[in-house]
Amino acid sequence: MILLLGASGYVGGALAANLQTRGLPFSAPSHAELDAGSKDALAAVLDALHPDFVINAIGFTGRPNIDGTEFEKLHCLTANTTVPGVLAEVLADRGIPWGHVSSGCIFDGARADGSPFTETDPPNFAFSHPEASWYSRTKAMAETLLADHPDCVVWRLRIPFDQFDHERNYLSKLMRYDQLLEVTNSISQLQEFADACVETLLRRLPGGLYNVTNPGAITTSEAAEIIRKSGLCDKTFRYFENEDTFLSAPGRVKRASCILSSEKLAAAGIKMREVHEAVAWSLRNWQWQPT
Ligand SMILES: NC(=O)c1ccc[n+]([C@@H]2O[C@H](COP(=O)([O-])OP(=O)(O)OC[C@H]3O[C@@H](n4cnc5c(N)ncnc54)[C@H](OP(=O)(O)O)[C@@H]3O)[C@@H](O)[C@H]2O)c1
Repeated sequence: MILLLGASGYVGGALAANLQTRGLPFSAPSHAELDAGSKDALAAVLDALHPDFVINAIGFTGRPNIDGTEFEKLHCLTANTTVPGVLAEVLADRGIPWGHVSSGCIFDGARADGSPFTETDPPNFAFSHPEASWYSRTKAMAETLLADHPDCVVWRLRIPFDQFDHERNYLSKLMRYDQLLEVTNSISQLQEFADACVETLLRRLPGGLYNVTNPGAITTSEAAEIIRKSGLCDKTFRYFENEDTFLSAPGRVKRASCILSSEKLAAAGIKMREVHEAVAWSLRNWQWQPT
């Protein structure tokens, strides 16, 4: 039995689908059934279920986007930092293995020599960065807390996309936004991400940080060109002149754009498709949301 937290969410839904496809039994209490920020409530669920492992996909990314976290700081702090902190304590007491969905948004750019950030690099887009979003800060704080719990597997997700049209899917966003910002990112195909997360637990890989992104990096215009070639969208993509123009809109916070190495995951035997190939595959298998 697996306990999946945050199953009603965008990422949790993909993890639930993966467990279902694998035929693995799991319990997925809703937020209304379990407030995971409460130690007593969490302990009661764990003591009733005795899960083999726990997956934490609880979090808050802001509505309609990351800018929204600046206006809901306490909710964001609870979901992104307090919940994993409480989980770490309650699960350590019971010796239950678990994994936590973190984010690559705690990095900006690449290493000084242009190479991708690895799991040994400290985050450079958190409290030390004056422009870091509240969201990035809460995610970095959770990783700091979890560093004291080396048994926890921490999966860094980055800009999820897949073949299912959705307001949270990066490819849907590119197709719908009026203007795009040209940046370079390592990004994660959501089903491959979910599959990799579950594999790390089933294979009992050592705890710690894992960048769970498709190998390589992709620019906005490269992704837009793959969309254009797919024939799914015939609009002419327009771009902001530069990041300053993008950030000049009221209430807009700086986005982290970063290149991450996924070599640690690959070296552990879990392979994901090269990023351009994963984007092209998702577009070839595209399913529009019913209107
Ligand atoms: N989406 C992205 O682009 C992205 C990128 C990188 C990393 N991540 C990370 O992935 C995780 C999931 O994000 P998401 O996009 O799937 O968010 P989401 O769609 O908003 O889902 C969040 C889930 O957490 C639940 N939840 C929130 N607070 C809770 C609490 N105190 N107790 C119990 N359940 C609670 C929500 O339930 P209710 O809705 O009922 O409150 C919902 O099921 C987060 O940690 C996020 O930082 C997301």
